[in-house]
Amino acid sequence: MRAIAVSEYGATPALMNLPRPEPGPGEIRVKLIAAGLNPLDWKIADGMLKDSLDVPFPLILGQDGAGVVDAVGEGVTRLRPGEQVYGSFFGAERGLGSYAEYAIARDDGPVARMPAGMIYTQAAAVPTASMTALAMVDQARVDTGQTVLVVGATGGVGQGAVQLASRAGAKVIATALDDMAGTMRRLGADETVDHSKGDLNRQVLAVHSDGIDVVLDMVSDTATAEHIAQMLRPGGTYISTIWAVNPDAMEARGLRGVNFQGTPSSALLERLSALIDASAFRVRVEREVPLAGAAGALAGNRAGGARGKTVLRI
Ligand SMILES: NC(=O)c1ccc[n+]([C@@H]2O[C@H](COP(=O)([O-])OP(=O)(O)OC[C@H]3O[C@@H](n4cnc5c(N)ncnc54)[C@H](OP(=O)(O)O)[C@@H]3O)[C@@H](O)[C@H]2O)c1
Repeated sequence: MRAIAVSEYGATPALMNLPRPEPGPGEIRVKLIAAGLNPLDWKIADGMLKDSLDVPFPLILGQDGAGVVDAVGEGVTRLRPGEQVYGSFFGAERGLGSYAEYAIARDDGPVARMPAGMIYTQAAAVPTASMTALAMVDQARVDTGQTVLVVGATGGVGQGAVQLASRAGAKVIATALDDMAGTMRRLGADETVDHSKGDLNRQVLAVHSDGIDVVLDMVSDTATAEHIAQMLRPGGTYISTIWAVNPDAMEARGLRGVNFQGTPSSALLERLSALIDASAFRVRVEREVPLAGAAGALAGNRAGGARGKTVLRI
């Protein structure tokens, strides 16, 4: 099968012809039509897992995908051949991933039937970023009347977080450069602040002099997070997806600091499917690229400036 893989950590991802994987007991095989790109994909290609997991090479990249179940292993009871599914296909310990014609998932893993009427390229854009946004908003216990600042709001996770925090009844402030301010408001942001135009605290406190309740942060380093946290009211929550928070230092200031670690699941995907079916959640696909263009798409994501999701057409 055609797949995008690296021959070693740090190598340029390349189109290769690799064996089609077979589903083992409790596993399904999916013929993928589209794969979604996440920053995690180039981080893994760079070697992020090298001290925690033994992976074989070539290592196929990618987690997210959407397609059709084409074979099932012994003992599979939930999903059936022919069903349209989407989800997270992490399989690095076997060299497998979603930038490929076929991927493997556990029947009880983070894969679900696709939302009704959704096309494959949209569905492939959902899993990792939107599950992260949903679990983060849950973990922050975002509630009616709270003020929530989303930092990195224009990216895949951020766009989901803005929609879900707004839906939970919060007043949402989203970071956005000028070109994305209107989009962020349409997704549910009440206000936007432009992170290229000086200190965020000064911009936010100009409108919210009594502080804010929650920060959902996808981009700030530890020093910046410490600074932004000065805006939180006592008892406020700061969640970082890039592990930039020092929870003890936050606790000493009467705050809750959380380094978010996602646990993808079919339950999270099914909640997202229900929201998508009800037109209460959407993903913005910024760019569709053929599978062979994956290396360029990964380099583009690494360079920054995402305005939504990038999807590979397989
Ligand atoms: N811990 C976990 O389980 C978990 C799960 C999912 C994702 N993550 C991590 O979370 C991060 C975000 O993921 P993503 O998928 O949302 O990435 P993404 O789609 O690439 O988006 C990142 C966004 O942040 C914006 N940005 C960059 N610097 C900024 C700044 N200083 N202030 C405000 N916005 C800024 C970028 O736009 P501009 O460059 O134009 O500003 C871009 O829109 C990644 O590092 C990813 O690996 C972690």
